[in-house]
Amino acid sequence: MSERSRRDGRRRLGAEARAAILDRIAEVDAPAREAEAPAPSAATPDPATRALRAAVLGNDENMLPQIHDLWGSLRRIPVDEATLEGNLVITASRRDPAHAPFDLLRTRLLQALDEHGWKRVAITSPTRGCGKTFTAANLAIALSRYENRRTVLLDFDMRAPALADVLGISAPGPIADWIRGTTSSGSHLQRVGQNLLGIGGLAVGLNDRPETYPAELLQDRKAAAVLDQMQEELTPDAVLFDLPPALSHDDVTAFRARYDCVLMVVGGGRNSAEQIREAVRRIGDDKPILGMILNRAEEDAASGAA
Ligand SMILES: Nc1ncnc2c1ncn2[C@@H]1O[C@H](COP(=O)(O)OP(=O)(O)O)[C@@H](O)[C@H]1O
Ligand SMILES: [Mg+2]
Repeated sequence: MSERSRRDGRRRLGAEARAAILDRIAEVDAPAREAEAPAPSAATPDPATRALRAAVLGNDENMLPQIHDLWGSLRRIPVDEATLEGNLVITASRRDPAHAPFDLLRTRLLQALDEHGWKRVAITSPTRGCGKTFTAANLAIALSRYENRRTVLLDFDMRAPALADVLGISAPGPIADWIRGTTSSGSHLQRVGQNLLGIGGLAVGLNDRPETYPAELLQDRKAAAVLDQMQEELTPDAVLFDLPPALSHDDVTAFRARYDCVLMVVGGGRNSAEQIREAVRRIGDDKPILGMILNRAEEDAASGAA
């Protein structure tokens, strides 16, 4: 049922198989640990922290700091419908009825974020190839269709950068430079330009090369400061991190203080119950898993080694 794309030799599924698989994604659980962890996470600075910072910096309510809204001045880049469709970004044209589960996922995700005051969503999976990038790209575009909502999608799988290719947008450079604070949000992040697809408020942080020590980079305080500043400059409603697999390396654990909640993409037929349990254990009890997304349910397990 699978075939190789003439363009890049990557394995593609036939249309029928794809529709069947896509039909079964988004087994979104109700927020499983919601009741246990309702407090706003330290990952997103709350109003009290902001006020404290303002006090330290000598600002008060009447003398707000002049924060330039960077969103409007981000570089706008065009997107190509055929490229998106060829890379299974099915929420772009919405021709494939399989985009519907992403609309549902988006709605539930926004409800959970709004309810808890969360912004930062980690997208991970037990092993590689389960569909993290597929989920991240489709979900980000589904989210961007809400008017007046801003979504930031970041390629933080520095071991296997993929979002630039999937979206057909070239990365301005290594995302590691942005995380280190060497390049600014204004120069590294890009916004999807006006398009006939209805893709709205979406900014992307792409990466053009693998990084040798991503876990250290993600854990560094500099990364925390860069993300906080990005949030102040762009005021996004949702920040999606396309992360590496939870079981392969310690990046997801190293980065855990920086995200508020998690979407776990499970590869149907690829992940054992034990792998899923272990991945959830590594996330830790204090980070709510907002959904388990069952993806690629129809594929044979034999092709799914991590
Ligand atoms: N539901 C799906 N149906 C068909 N192909 C899929 C699906 N999800 C992912 N793929 C394909 O499987 C490959 C691996 O998915 P990807 O999102 O890159 O995985 P990850 O980011 O978790 O490593 C990609 O070529 C992607 O297009
Ligand atoms: Mg990926």
